[in-house]
Formats: sequence, C-alpha cells, structure tokens
Amino acid sequence: MKTRKDPIMNRLHSALLAAGVVLAGLSAPAFAQGEAAPSAAEAGISPAPIEGAAPGSAPESAKGAEAAVGGASEHGGEHATPHYPLKKPAYVDWSFAGPFGHWDLGQLQRGLKVYKEVCSTCHSMNLVSFRNLEALGYSEDQVRALAAEYQITDPAPNAQGESFQRPGIPSDRLPSPYPNPEAAAAALGGAHPPDLSLIAKARAVERGFPNFVFDIFTQYAEAGPDYIHALLTGYGEPVPENVTVQPGTYYNPHFISGPALAMPAPLSEGAVSYDDGAPTTVEQYSRDVTAFLMWTAEPHLVERKATGFVVMIFLIGFAIMLYLVKNRVWASTPH
Ligand code: HEC
Repeated sequence: MKTRKDPIMNRLHSALLAAGVVLAGLSAPAFAQGEAAPSAAEAGISPAPIEGAAPGSAPESAKGAEAAVGGASEHGGEHATPHYPLKKPAYVDWSFAGPFGHWDLGQLQRGLKVYKEVCSTCHSMNLVSFRNLEALGYSEDQVRALAAEYQITDPAPNAQGESFQRPGIPSDRLPSPYPNPEAAAAALGGAHPPDLSLIAKARAVERGFPNFVFDIFTQYAEAGPDYIHALLTGYGEPVPENVTVQPGTYYNPHFISGPALAMPAPLSEGAVSYDDGAPTTVEQYSRDVTAFLMWTAEPHLVERKATGFVVMIFLIGFAIMLYLVKNRVWASTPH
C-alpha cells in the first residue's frame, strides 16, 4: 500500500515545491520594486536641498527627488549607473533573529539610552509613547520621570488660544526636537531626519537572486536591522575617486540611496556611558540602538514567533493525525 502511494505523494510534493518556487520568483521582484521606489524617492530629498539650503525650499526638494529616482534607477542600462548601497550590509547575530528569537532587555535599555542621548537630538519617535517603555523593564515612576525630562508642545491650546509647552507625561509620544520637518531640514543641510519609530521595518537592502530564495528557508528577516547597523558603523571610509560627495553630506558606502547622506556620523567612541559594563564602542552602540529600533518597530515580535511556533507544531500534529485517520477510514476499501 505504501509503495503504491509513494510516487503520487512524490509527484504532489514536487509540484507543490515548483509552485512555491515560481510564486516566490514572481513575488520577490514585485516586492523589491515596491520597496525601492519609496526609499529612493525619500532619499532624493537629501541631494536636492544642498543647493537650496534656504528654509522652505520644498519645490526644489521635490525636483531633486525625481532626479534621484531617475539616477538611481535599478536597471540602468548602457552607462554604468552605480548601485546603492555601494557596500552590502554585514550580517549581525541578533538575539531576536530566528524562530526562537527573544529580546535582550539589557540591550534594549542601552539602546534607549543611545537613542535618548544621541539620536533624539535630531530624530523623533512619533509612534512610541513613554508608557510603552515599561515593556523594557522600567517602572511607572521611572517612565514618569523620563517623560518629565522632555518639553512637549501640548496638542490643545491654552485658554488664550496659544499653544504652550509643558513637561511630558507617560502618554506623550517621543517628540521631535524640531517644530516641523521643514525646520529640521533647514537646520540639517536640507534633509529632514525621518521618524525612527518604524525605520527598522521601513529600510532594507534588496536581497537579490538567489538570496531571496534562500531567505525562505533560512528565515532571514533581519535585513532592516542589518542595514541600520551597517549605516551607523559605515562612516569614516576614504571617498573613492569616482564618487563626488555634495557639500553638507557625508560619505557612507552603506547608505541605501546614494553615496552620501545628510546625517553626520552620529556615534563616537565613549559618547554614551553604560552602567552595565557593556563596551562603549561605536559597534556596541550601533547594535544596541538598532535592537531598540527593531523593538519599537515590532514590539510583539517575540510573541508572534512563539505563537507561530506553537501553530506549526499543532499543524504538523494535525497533519499526521489526518493521515492516520484517512488510512483507517479507507482501510477496508479494496483498490
Ligand atoms: C545631527 C542630526 C542627526 C543625529 C544626531 C542622528 N541623525 Fe539620523 N538622520 C539625520 C538626517 C538629517 C537624516 C536624513 C539623511 C538623508 O536623507 O540624507 C538621517 C537619516 C537617518 C536614517 C535613515 C537613513 C536612510 O536610509 O534613509 C536612519 C536609520 C538614522 N538617521 C538613524 C539614526 C540613529 C540610529 C541615530 C542615533 C544613533 C541618528 N540617526 C542620529 C540626522 C541625524
């Protein structure tokens, strides 16, 4: 009975596999294009405003965005269009990777510290409330104290109809130091620093063939954090001869949309003090803050993976049971 059924199972199996590969092949390029378009357009904001560094030069930025999209267009054709990033990100061994991934709370707390002391001088986190940070192991009082360190513009005006500032409370979001993106762009060489709440999911270097196929099996899903880590640690290399770096931008071969970006190297050795003995190196800061950014982008990642694992076990058990039941039901039918 077994031997007769096997060829059928085999054929079914290979057909399913083939369908899977075809589907993956179809969906991956579409995904890649979908990803590339917004990031190129966004990043285009950086080259343009350099010439028009004056505040309120929004129309120029828009033009620049188009130009950048055209310039960085993927399948460039006859003349050699550089492909960004110039260097692929390295793989980092994240604690949250893989089916048994988990958060390293100590690391997330250090990451919050790096964000607070370094990144928050330019970047906001509009989708994260102070009270969300309790999930990192802080008490309500600690969160209250942290929130009170910030000055927040109250969303509602006072009795005179004027907006006013007050110390933060736990339900406030992590604010931007700038009143609006235009003010930030004017102060920072023409590009506004993007909100970091979801950045670990909003950026990733295209994997390309055949990596995207392997990724299905290896469960690689850390392209976002790997990119951010590569970007933060990617400064300081000598500029190659064929690359021109526009004034007001900083060369970084890991930047996804050009050779240079308007963010100066944010991290430097020893800039943030750690009280748990972790090394105070750029590499460590970058890992910690990136893990923190992954947490803000997907706070329920660990629960999702744990649930998924139980579901897989259940489905496997259920499939075995169905198979046995089927054998039993058809056992007395001659064939
Ligand atoms: C001096 C201000 C400043 C500081 C400090 C700063 N950034 Fe930025 N950041 C910027 C600006 C400006 C951009 C936009 C760059 C561009 O598009 O050219 C940016 C862009 C980014 C991007 C997006 C890159 C992309 O692919 O589009 C990430 C991620 C980022 N910053 C992370 C961080 C992190 C993490 C920190 C803290 C360690 C930090 N930044 C500190 C100004 C800053």
